[in-house]
Order: sequence, then C-alpha cells, then structure tokens
Amino acid sequence: MDNIRNFAIIAHVDHGKSTLADRFLELTGVVKPNQHEDQLLDRNPISRERGITIKLAPVRMPYFYESQLYILNLIDTPGHVDFSYEVDRTLACVEGVILLVDATQGIQAQTIANTYKAIEKNLTIIPVVNKIDLSTAQIEKTKEQLINFLGAKQKDIYLISAKTGQGVKELLTGLISKLPPPTVNYRSSSSKENLQALIFDSYYDSYKGVIAFVRIFSGSIKVGEKVKLYHGGVDFDVKEVGYFTPDLSPTNELKMGEIGYITTNLKNIHQVQVGDTIMDKTSSSNPLPGYQKVKPMVFASIFPTDSTDFQNLSKALDKLSLNDSSLQFSPVVSKALGAGFRVGFLGLLHAEVIRERLEREFNLSLVLTPPQIEFEIKNNNFFEPYAKVLIITPTNFLSEIIQLCLNHRANFLHMDNLGKDSLQLIYEMPLTELVSDFFDKLKTISSGFASLDWEILDYRPVVAGKLKILLNGESIEEFTEIIAKEKAYDRGQFLVEKLKQLIPRQQFEVKIQASYEGKIIAASRIAPIRKNVLVKSGKVLGTGDISRKRKLLEKQKEGKKRMKMIGKIEVPKEIFLKLFRQ
Ligand code: GTP
Repeated sequence: MDNIRNFAIIAHVDHGKSTLADRFLELTGVVKPNQHEDQLLDRNPISRERGITIKLAPVRMPYFYESQLYILNLIDTPGHVDFSYEVDRTLACVEGVILLVDATQGIQAQTIANTYKAIEKNLTIIPVVNKIDLSTAQIEKTKEQLINFLGAKQKDIYLISAKTGQGVKELLTGLISKLPPPTVNYRSSSSKENLQALIFDSYYDSYKGVIAFVRIFSGSIKVGEKVKLYHGGVDFDVKEVGYFTPDLSPTNELKMGEIGYITTNLKNIHQVQVGDTIMDKTSSSNPLPGYQKVKPMVFASIFPTDSTDFQNLSKALDKLSLNDSSLQFSPVVSKALGAGFRVGFLGLLHAEVIRERLEREFNLSLVLTPPQIEFEIKNNNFFEPYAKVLIITPTNFLSEIIQLCLNHRANFLHMDNLGKDSLQLIYEMPLTELVSDFFDKLKTISSGFASLDWEILDYRPVVAGKLKILLNGESIEEFTEIIAKEKAYDRGQFLVEKLKQLIPRQQFEVKIQASYEGKIIAASRIAPIRKNVLVKSGKVLGTGDISRKRKLLEKQKEGKKRMKMIGKIEVPKEIFLKLFRQ
C-alpha cells in the first residue's frame, strides 16, 4: 500500500483537468503520445462535443520512480456545479487532490467550493497553476490568489502547461512524494482483513450486469468469492474484478487501498447504489459512511411530440437511469400534452444534457416544460428552497453584482478579498431566482469574469401563489407555476409577451392571459390569419399540378410533426425549448 497514491483533480470548467490527465497517461506510458484523442478520459459524446466533463472517470497508472513501482490512481471529475456530487463521491476515495487553476482566469467559485470539501475531508492539496505557456497567463497574480486562499507557500505551487507538458513530470513525481499512501483500516472496519469496498460509481452492462466502481478500504476481493451489498441487501458471486486502464482490465484480486471495478452480475442497478459497501457475505461489521443521496432541485415535464412514442420515452428514461442514478422520474398526464414524465434534475445543464441524450441516443422528439423549483406547502403556507451562493469576481464589477443580487431577492452574508483585485462574496438567495437568468446576467455584467457556485441551505416561508397561463380562456397546466407574490406580475408579463412572439398566427384569434391567484394580471392577443398552403399568391393551384401539390402538402405534414396541439392551437415545439432556455 505504501506505493499507492489515490488522487483527483479539482478545477473549474475548462481549466485543463482532462488535458493534464492526458499528459499523466502519456508520461506513465498508459497511452502513447499522439496516438489517442485529446481529453481521453472524457468519453461521453456530449461531453466531447461540449468540451465539458459530465462524468467522473478513473484511471490506474503504474509508474517507476527511483527504482520503485508506484500505482497512481487518478479520478477525473467534472468541474460544473450541476455535477458536483460526482466530486463528492470522488473525494471520499482519495487521499489528495491537485488544485488546478488556469493562469489566464484565476481561481473560480467552483474550485473554491470543491477545495473546501477537500479541506473538510483532511485531504492533501497540491496547488498548481496551469496554462503558463499562454502570453495572457497571469502567473504571479494566480500564485498570490493560491497563497491567500490556501495559505500555500510560494515554493509549493507547481507551474505547468498541461498542453505542452512543461512542468508536468515534476508535478507527477511531486505527487508521489507529497501525497500520503492509503492508510490501513482507513474507515471504521472491525478488522483490516474484513472486506469493505465503497461503491463510488456504477453502470449497467448488458453482458456483465451492473459494474461497480470501488475503493477498497479494508480487506481484499477475489474472483469467485461470495459477497454482499450492505444496503442493497443482496448477495452475489464475484465474476470479475479489475482495474481501469482506462478500459476495464481484469485481474485476480483487488487489495486494500486500491481503486478498481467489480462485476456484480446483478441486473437491477437500483440494487447497486452509489455509496453502498460491498462486504464478505458473512461479515457482521458496519458499512462505510457512504454518501448523502443527491436530491434533484429542478423539475420539468417531458412529453413526446408524437404521443405514440410514450413507451419509447419510458424505456429510454429507464435506460438512462441505469447509468445516472441522480435521474428521477414519474409518469404524468397532461390535458394538453398527453402522457409524459415529470423528471427531477440536478440543475439546468443536467436537464439539457438529459434532453439531448434522449433525443439523440433514442431518436425521440420531445417537448420540455419550463423548469420549476418545487415549493413545500404546509397548511396552505408556501416554503421555498434557499441556496448559499458563492461568487468570485474581479473587484471592478462589485457594484453591478450587488445590484443584481438585490434584484434577485438575495441577502448579503459575507465578503472577502482573494488576492489584490478579486473578491469572494457570499449570499443566500431563493433557488428560483438562481435558476432563472441569474447566472447569465452575472456573466454579462462581469464580461464573463465572475463565477458562481451554490449549495442548498434550507426551506423558508414565502408569500406565494399560482401563476396560470390561459390560451383562449383555457388554463394551460404545463405553464402553471408557483411563484413568489413580488415576482408574479413581472413573470406574468414576461410569459405573455414571450408566448405572443413565439406562437404563430392561427386561423382564429388567440388570447393569451396570465392570472395570479385568480386575477388577470397580463393579457395580449394574436390576430388570426387564413392559411392554406394550396393558395399561392392568391391563386389556387390547378388540379394538373398534382406532384407540386403533393409536395406542398407533405411539407405541411412535416411541419405539423414539429407542432404540438394545445387545445385547438398549434404550438411549435421550439416554444417550449425557448421558454426553457430563457
Ligand atoms: P471540463 O472538462 O469542462 O471540466 O474542463 P477541463 O478542466 O477538463 O479542461 P480541458 O482539459 O478540457 O481543457 C480546456 C481547454 O483548455 C482545451 O481547449 C485545452 O486544450 C486547453 N488547455 C488545457 N491546458 C492548457 C495549457 O496548459 N495551455 C493551453 N494553451 N491550453 C490548455
């Protein structure tokens, strides 16, 4: 165990985690330079396309140093706040982290939030300044931020370019000398021989059943042994164990301190929960502490545009949830949109990724209602979730940011310097305000420099009520939302105006109204048109022109597929997406 080093990289989105992982993989000979795709550990296609990590990825790297063989286990983690539960899981499996900061950007909010988590867990933190090859790199300023924030010593900060490889070898050997090896009996095991393996991720493989990613905290596990899942309450025979190279590579045994995988042969992923402990079948020792269950905070309903696709959507969600245990859904029926699912997401990015995967991987055309935050209702009183928000910004945008926070019902809690000209601000604010356009506005007023991280605090009382949208007098339940009274008028006006722009003219008049607690607070109308595709420039196409006529009708049919009927009104599917993204 003395020669094992388990670590993760903490960094803000795009600061270079996956690129640094590539260099480590090359230096340790796991892959050959120029013979692999960039950001090798980012395998999900959407991840690759968007250039953001959305899934953790472990890899084992053997490395000779001073004539000894070391095993370096790296877990690459996402940097975006929606996926911070992946960071939490990772931090429970490692002894140290690299804190990687882009020298052109400086420390950002998510990095700070994740570093606090690492500090709480007593992990060793290695500060690293990245992208020093760029002419815009502000190396001294970034170092100063790290010194102020971490109390790091100047000499302990590594300066690297993950892109060119400069300084990366020194960092790799620094990891060996500075990170502690896994400690014996690290968690509350009754004896170090008793198997305790923490599941930090899992996915479903149609041949091997559920594959659990584990960190062995005590004991060992071999092929053929009989083991049990403590919380899952099931036994299974170990068919295969192995390492991540980064593909799955079988071996005979996983030992204390190691990171690897176990195939369970179980078909139900819900039995193999992240945070559960795998133990010897007859063991009576306690499980490892595990993780807090992630709670989705943003809810939206998903409907297929073609109602015959309901079963396909149901199967697709089932399949996705096999590899995304945070995804929660239950069936709903809407008068206007038919049968669909109410789905809980971790944030807006998570919602977008899921929608995109459903549409692309399962060839579905979907309608998503605007995302909402769930309020608690007790004895007719409303309670809304509050978040603690951390904002990092250059000093010169302070007054605009204070104003923005005021407009979003935020309470100021604390402010600190972070280096010479950057600040960290702590606010608490309703989650509804945060998931509206707060982040976009923050980025706009700070020219993209400010960053943000948040965590849920609690539920607080609020005067709120139902805001309904009516189309031709009929309430459209998909647009109904519970909203704080002080925001109802603005929101009602906004939705009515937006729908007026988005709904195409129909052959009859469309009245759009917003009502709050039964009172109409905003109204508008769309004038009718007569639309007949067979009438062109005032002339009806003659019967002789059959093929052209058919083409036009087919084109209209195609267009109809993209429409959803709300009562009698044809609404393009894009309306929902546009409202969703606003
Ligand atoms: P997420 O996956 O979104 O969390 O980002 P990440 O931290 O993994 O960043 P990634 O490795 O994808 O790098 C982001 C961009 O920065 C890519 O275009 C890299 O090529 C570039 N990059 C990373 N390191 C360096 C560096 O040292 N120098 C320069 N010039 N570019 C770099």
